[in-house]
Amino acid sequence: MLADLDRPAAVSADPAFRRDVLAGLAMRPQRAIPARWFYDRAGSELFEKITDLPEYYPTRTETALLADHAGAVAGLVGPGRAVVEFGSGSSVKTPHVLRAVAPAAYVPIDISGDFLRDSSALLAADFPALRILPVEADFTQPLRLPAEIAAMPKLGFFPGSTIGNMVAHTAIDLLRAMAETLGEGAMLLIGMDRVKSPDILVPAYDDAAGVTAAFNLNLLHRINRELEGDVPVDAFRHRAIWNDGEARIEMHLETMRDVAFDVCGERFGIAAGETIHTENSHKYGARDARLLLRAGAWTPIEEWTDAEGRFALILAEARTPATAP
Ligand code: AVJ
Repeated sequence: MLADLDRPAAVSADPAFRRDVLAGLAMRPQRAIPARWFYDRAGSELFEKITDLPEYYPTRTETALLADHAGAVAGLVGPGRAVVEFGSGSSVKTPHVLRAVAPAAYVPIDISGDFLRDSSALLAADFPALRILPVEADFTQPLRLPAEIAAMPKLGFFPGSTIGNMVAHTAIDLLRAMAETLGEGAMLLIGMDRVKSPDILVPAYDDAAGVTAAFNLNLLHRINRELEGDVPVDAFRHRAIWNDGEARIEMHLETMRDVAFDVCGERFGIAAGETIHTENSHKYGARDARLLLRAGAWTPIEEWTDAEGRFALILAEARTPATAP
């Protein structure tokens, strides 16, 4: 392939991205690329746009729950904790928690470094007295918290139903790793999207304005930008389907014709109508959610939901309950 001067050199690409894309494009019977690779700068910005869409209820529902119940959360959690946010993104929900909980420090963790720095700077302007210690990391991998908060009790904050991106065994592994990372006496405030009618779920992931489509297709643009790809993006279309058996929304990129392309010098052919699976978004009933938390070594102690029961905010603690009888 000829060098493309508009394209940054692929040497700057994350080797894990390269590995996941090359393996995922070859995967059979279903090609699949992990959803975390959506979030480059462009993808993070598109996701922010999704959160404002009329069809995408989770963000505004969860933000309203936080606004209404942060005081109750604070009462249960007590002051002086270090708040550790997993996948902080633009941190729009965080001010509600920080204002109510009055933490001793705030540690936002995000995979997108420049996005993390920008949102931390914005937050610092609103909370000038708060110690903000950003960590650029993939929180699904083992990570070390800043030494400054070692002695403080922790409140994990995991909003957005991001846990829904993981299949159950991975979600449980992550919850257990979080309990481990956050340590003795930790608490966790987690947002989980509820099971509901596909008439509400599907449009939330396939909006009329096409923003979610652009978010999904950006993954292919990112492959072209960072992995010396020549994927014909216009031959793919966005698909969002409700998989009832797995209780999840799936996003796919479907080919509208036979395509052939190179990524990192490797050749791929995909037949018309095949898909690349790009995201799972699992939904949880009230009992499902509590069972998942318990399986992940957390004990639910309080939960809040909106009038329509669309979304739940759950507070849990890392206490192992008695197993008697
Ligand atoms: C950020 C993973 C919670 O699953 O609802 C939104 C991502 N994907 N629209 C979700 C997403 C398509 C979102 N999470």
